[in-house]
Amino acid sequence: MNNKNNKDNNLSNKSSLIKVALLGFGTIGSGVYTLLENQSKLISERLYSATGRNISLEIAKVLVLPDEYPEQLPQEIRVTDYDQILNDDSIEIVVELMGGLEPATKFMNQAMERGKHVVTANKYAIFTAQGALEEKADLTDVHLRYEAAVAGAIPILRSITEGLIGDEVEEVVGILNGSTNYILTEVKKGKSLEQALEEARQNGYLEADPSADLEGYDAMHKLGILGYLITGNYPAEREIERAGITGISPQDIEQAKQNGQAIKLVARATKTETGKFTYSVRPEALAEDHPLFHTEGVLNTIQIKCKYAQELAFTGYGAGSLETATAVTGDIVSIARDLHIC
Ligand code: HSE
Repeated sequence: MNNKNNKDNNLSNKSSLIKVALLGFGTIGSGVYTLLENQSKLISERLYSATGRNISLEIAKVLVLPDEYPEQLPQEIRVTDYDQILNDDSIEIVVELMGGLEPATKFMNQAMERGKHVVTANKYAIFTAQGALEEKADLTDVHLRYEAAVAGAIPILRSITEGLIGDEVEEVVGILNGSTNYILTEVKKGKSLEQALEEARQNGYLEADPSADLEGYDAMHKLGILGYLITGNYPAEREIERAGITGISPQDIEQAKQNGQAIKLVARATKTETGKFTYSVRPEALAEDHPLFHTEGVLNTIQIKCKYAQELAFTGYGAGSLETATAVTGDIVSIARDLHIC
C-alpha cells in the first residue's frame, strides 16, 4: 500500500524509477507521451533539485482499444486489458485520459483502491462524482490530481488552491470551453458553422460527444469544479443555469459584430449577499471593452475577483494536445516529487 507521502520509499536508495500507466492515447494521451519523452532530462533534473534523488518517470503501459494501434506507441507497452495495469504493483501512477463517465470513473476508483495515485483530465467524471473521487483518494491515502480538467494549459486549480489559499474568491468569470470559442471566432471571421465545427474536430478540441461542448455541459463541469475549489462543495447540476451555443445563428454573430460586440460562451460563479454562490453558463454579447472580448480561437480566459488580491486574469490554451499535456505532466511530476520529499 502506498503511503501518500512515501517517505520510507527507497530511503536508502537515492535512485527511483516511477512507473506510470496511461489510459487512453488520444489527443491528450499522445501529448503526454511526447512531453514526458521530450522533457525527461529536464524533469529528472528538477526532481533532483526538489528531492535530492535521481528520479525518473517511465510510461510502462498504455491502455488502448483492441483495434487501436497508434504509430507512436511501442508495441511492448500497448495493452488492451485494464487488469494488466491494475494488477501490476510496479505501476504507481495511473493517468486517466479516456474521457467520458464510464469506464473512466470505475477505473480511477479501482486504481486508488490498489494504492495507485491518479491523474486525470476528466472534468465530466470529476464533476459528476461530486466529491466521491476526492473522498476515495483520502480514504485510500493516494494523490488524485486533475489540473488539466479545467482550462487546459492554464494552471488555474493550483492558482486557486495554493496561490490564493489565504484569500477569498468572490467571483469567477470565464471562457472555459475552447472549441465553442474557436467556432464562434471562426464564424465571426466569415466561416460557416459546419466548417468551423469540422476544424475544431480536426484540431482535437471537441469532446467525443460534441454536444457536451455545444450545449454548454463541458463548461458547466469545469465551472462546477472551480465552484468546489472555491467553496468546498460541488454545486449540483441543477444549481448551474446552462445554455450552449446551438441557439446562436451566424446572423446573430454577424449582427453582434455590426454592433461592435462578440458573442462568447461565458461561465460565471458569483458570490451573493447571503454568501452563497450562483452559477451560470450562457452565451453573452460582449462589448469591445469587456476583458473577455479579445479571447479568441481556442484560448480560454478566467478572471477571478478576490477579497484581497482583487482582480486576476489568466489566459491560455484551453484545449489541444501538447498544451493540455503540460497540465497533466505537471500533476504527474508533482506527485513524483511529493512521494520523495523527506
Ligand atoms: N472540449 C474541451 C474544450 C476540451 O473545447 O474546451 C478541453 O477541455
